[in-house]
Amino acid sequence: MIKVGVLGARGRMGTAVCQAVGAASDLELAVTVDQGDDRQALALCDAVVDFTAPAEVLGNLEWCIGQGLNMVVGTSGFSPERLETVAGWLDKAPDVRVMIAANFSVGAVLMMRFAAQAAGFFESAEIIELRHANKVDAPSGTAARTADLISAARAAAGLGEVPDATTTAAEGARGALQEGVHVHSVRLPGVVAKQDVIFGDPGETLTIAHNSINRASFMPGVLLAIRAVASRPGLTFGLEPLLGLEGPA
Ligand SMILES: NC(=O)c1ccc[n+]([C@@H]2O[C@H](COP(=O)([O-])OP(=O)(O)OC[C@H]3O[C@@H](n4cnc5c(N)ncnc54)[C@H](O)[C@@H]3O)[C@@H](O)[C@H]2O)c1
Repeated sequence: MIKVGVLGARGRMGTAVCQAVGAASDLELAVTVDQGDDRQALALCDAVVDFTAPAEVLGNLEWCIGQGLNMVVGTSGFSPERLETVAGWLDKAPDVRVMIAANFSVGAVLMMRFAAQAAGFFESAEIIELRHANKVDAPSGTAARTADLISAARAAAGLGEVPDATTTAAEGARGALQEGVHVHSVRLPGVVAKQDVIFGDPGETLTIAHNSINRASFMPGVLLAIRAVASRPGLTFGLEPLLGLEGPA
């Protein structure tokens, strides 16, 4: 049995993770921790899952790595600089393994991969992402990662900047620019996570759309990561290698 601890256990994702771990015959929900609880109880766990908040997750990572605890992290907000910080901590703790994924849904991982495959063939690309009304950060980690992948694929294909004829715009009307890709963030009650990646060329558009209808969509990926984290040295970023999707998109 893999003993699992959950940080952010009373949150939306944490609650779903606790249920999914509790229902898995090879996993034991050993410790649940939320704000104000003592983290020390996590010390007996084989893997600690973090779904807390971008402002909290680095502190949790530093503490868990210091305690020698493997981690599966779904909390958003991992810029390249933050990933480097985590990699630096892991260099000093070679026995600890960490897996971070911007999106644990298999459909979303495939959506990002298909977007990366399409990106080199179209003049323009924009992202519209929808999330629930209580999300504290924008754009979503998934949208940011999709934009990064599109940007890299465009560069590899020799494409320059996305053309934009806008000369006047209300503030925010063209969305945020993430690695040169316009990202439009919508926040609404009733939504879990939805993203459309729209590509445009003269005479045609291609839309790659993904919809997480409820949080069950993330659980197979989270459980896969919990089972795999101990066997992957260092830092693993993204669910792709666990799905056999390593290598160029
Ligand atoms: N990777 C993915 O697939 C995926 C999917 C959905 C959401 N997310 C991300 O997961 C994070 C959590 O999302 P949510 O909707 O569950 O948020 P939420 O606000 O419902 O839950 C967060 C929980 O963490 C707790 N918390 C905050 N700081 C803590 C700390 N230091 N220690 C312990 N607990 C702490 C809060 O009290 C709360 O219960 C967000 O960053 C969100 O963007 C990722």
